[in-house]
Amino acid sequence: MRSEHTLPPGPRGVPILGMLPAIRRDPVGVFTKSAARFGDVVYFKIASRRGYLLNDPDDIRHVLQDNARNYHKSPLYDKLRLVLGDGLLTSEDGFWLRQRRIAQPAFHRQRIAALAGTMADAAREAAARWQAPASTGQPVDVDEEMMQLTRTVVLRTLLGSDLGPFTSTIDSAWAVVNQYIGEAFWSLGIADNLPTPKYRRFIAARAVLRGAVDYVISERRRSPAEKADLLSMLMHAHDEETGETMTDQQLSVEVMTFLLAGQETTSLALTWTWYLLSQNPAPRAQFERELDVVLHGRPPEYSDLADLPYLRMVVDEAMRLYPPAWGFSRQALSDDTLSGFRLPRGWLAFVIPYALHRHPRYWQNPESFDPDRFSPERSAERPKFVYLPFGAGPRRCIGDQFALIETHLTLATFAQSYRLQLVPGHKVDPWPLITLRPRFGMPMIIERRQRVSANAGS
Ligand code: HEM
Repeated sequence: MRSEHTLPPGPRGVPILGMLPAIRRDPVGVFTKSAARFGDVVYFKIASRRGYLLNDPDDIRHVLQDNARNYHKSPLYDKLRLVLGDGLLTSEDGFWLRQRRIAQPAFHRQRIAALAGTMADAAREAAARWQAPASTGQPVDVDEEMMQLTRTVVLRTLLGSDLGPFTSTIDSAWAVVNQYIGEAFWSLGIADNLPTPKYRRFIAARAVLRGAVDYVISERRRSPAEKADLLSMLMHAHDEETGETMTDQQLSVEVMTFLLAGQETTSLALTWTWYLLSQNPAPRAQFERELDVVLHGRPPEYSDLADLPYLRMVVDEAMRLYPPAWGFSRQALSDDTLSGFRLPRGWLAFVIPYALHRHPRYWQNPESFDPDRFSPERSAERPKFVYLPFGAGPRRCIGDQFALIETHLTLATFAQSYRLQLVPGHKVDPWPLITLRPRFGMPMIIERRQRVSANAGS
């Protein structure tokens, strides 16, 4: 047994700021290299904060699930609270639990399946717009295109299509808000609230987003016709034990949360998948063949997804290599013990899917794109807590089924007609802000694709 004052090994960093400068420069590199060099529990000092990077699935299960009551989201989430207020992503304890219980039923797979038609329609409309670039060979920024599409989907499935006076301003406001929180994430928070032009732009954009959400909620209250969207489900949702529903103000905070948590993450899952397919012709051929054999050229629907197992494996593998939520963290409420080391109260626990998903103990040839890793047989060999694109435990992503149905339908719809090639020579650089973005966008050339004939697959 180690003395309770022994610290786990870890990188030293610089005086006072510790590892902050290095983490700001290259967070995923620092965490991935530290996992390889120092082992299962790695000590980090980041400015005034201290904590451990966890690489052992048992410790991760302990923090995220078995002893989750001893942890809150870390202070890094305060930035999100600034935009979102106290919603599901940012609140804690009894308040969080009450909200989660009310919202949970609306996110069950069967309920989300009712929204799949809206998702598929949006994907078909967006795919139709690629006919022109497919004819001219003009590259499109797939990152930008997927952002547009997932924004459309989350707006239509959450709020319906009528945003009244906010229709023309919501898109640019949204982009400003996303940019602001992304960039503020690793800052020390000192200058965050100074009235700089950037901050003022952010406040104005946040007001537009809130305005749009409140507008739709109040319109619904005025003419409460039953609609088949998520807002309608949430307005009628109640805690199954207590019967409680959400107030309009709480509804507004949660809808903002879903808009922001559900758009960029899903978009990035799609963008990274297109990138990986473009770099890996053999898995791409298998993926296209499955689509052709199952769909015979007709547009995919929700009911087809169960017959497209390789599509599911492609997305799982893409989120292994490029998890949109590349890292998250917790703060201990009281002392805990992890792999024999004492984690004192107030210290942080870092869970970094980007590093964990490349850990050579659990993943052979971790850098290679191999969707078959996610076959049921090969998945059965792996501990559950080494693959965490949606987190785990009680705070696991509530929108996981929403995101999976949307990414599967979108990929199947576009790949029916097109094949995407990265513009030659373009530098792809993962850029870990809150989410893992491609730093220089993802310019790709859209080619029309010949389908393999149906009998070729039999
Ligand atoms: C590929 C897409 C997505 C990824 C990778 C993703 C990832 C995550 C992760 C890792 C967490 C847990 C964070 C933590 O434990 O600190 C989370 C939480 C959350 N996600 Fe997602 N998410 C995605 C899509 C969505 C969608 C579509 C929605 C809603 C429409 C959504 C809403 C939320 C909410 C509300 C939480 C907080 C849940 C709670 O604490 O009770 N996410 N997400």
